[in-house]
Amino acid sequence: MAELLQPTEQNLARAAAALRAGEVVGMPTETVYGLAGTATDARAVAKIFATKERPTFDPLIVHVAPEMSLEGIVASVPTRARTLMDAFWPGPLTLVLPRGNRIPDLVTSGLPSVAVRMPRHPVAQALIREAGVPLAAPSANRFGRISPTSAADVQSELGDRIGLILDGGRCELGLESTVLALEGERALLLRPGGVPKSAIEQALGIEVLPAPKVEGPAASPGMLASHYAPRKPMTLLDAPLERATFPAALPRIIGVLAQSGDAEQRARELSQRLGVTVRVQVLSASGDPGEAARRLFASMRALDGSDAELLFAEPCPTEEGLGHAIADRLRRACAR
Ligand code: TXA
Ligand code: MG
Repeated sequence: MAELLQPTEQNLARAAAALRAGEVVGMPTETVYGLAGTATDARAVAKIFATKERPTFDPLIVHVAPEMSLEGIVASVPTRARTLMDAFWPGPLTLVLPRGNRIPDLVTSGLPSVAVRMPRHPVAQALIREAGVPLAAPSANRFGRISPTSAADVQSELGDRIGLILDGGRCELGLESTVLALEGERALLLRPGGVPKSAIEQALGIEVLPAPKVEGPAASPGMLASHYAPRKPMTLLDAPLERATFPAALPRIIGVLAQSGDAEQRARELSQRLGVTVRVQVLSASGDPGEAARRLFASMRALDGSDAELLFAEPCPTEEGLGHAIADRLRRACAR
């Protein structure tokens, strides 16, 4: 199993040395944990893909530290990108920009663009700084599975395949960065995430457009329909729990991901109505979107690990702000 390391100076130096030697390392960020490798080293990048069993048509995000030069990472920084960096970096916004000459093909899946982000988690920043190289890092889960939001989650996803995981505590945001492409005069939202669309529109003064639908391997494969999924089948309900339609035939025990309210009370009510045992995970008792985002993946993981045989998710009450990303992840987790 991987060693879980506290982020002491000594352990950061050790993890940085492993990265420089071409190894991959579990790294905390404010969004989710990443599986980091040196972005300019094609062999390290190949190791990331192999470890995650990720198809190579799905490009990676390059992570930089605040004092790091973007030279060679991106070919240019358009004015609008600069505006967004000033407003949201360090933080959960990934920008898709013209690719620089130090970035190997494998990172971008051969695309002429590269995705770049500056995380604000102090341990991620310290690790990048100490390694002295930009780090490619996808979320540290097996391909298509639930993203990890704690070091223990990384251990259970990839612990048998990697040597080191830096423990930076529970992720502050709990879901991934927003991925935005700047193409000519247009800003395209490739993945909703930690920075809401409205905040980007406010900073840029232009509308952010949805990513165009593409056939086959996607332009941004985080957009693949089935993603972030538990092992057990999960169905997105058609309405809030009280009014939701459930299938007529249910197993003895079901699991429900509820948006808000009291877990025990909701389990009791539903159990009476359906005549089966119900395990409930509530995202936020008070319906706070920040808390819901933070707990989303951990709650899915808990239901996946429970004795429930079939899972259901209550739809997110809003698609505004963080609700957009929460609703997106729920739809993908429920897609088969
Ligand atoms: O919050 C995050 O972004 C986390 C943490 C670890 O930083 N990382 C993450 O990486 O979510 P990953 O690999 O799970 O998702 C990367 C997303 C995918 O949707 C991918 O398709 C998109 O970024 N992407 C990467 N490079 C791209 C490019 N050149 N053009 C379009 N989309 C790109
Ligand atoms: Mg991912």
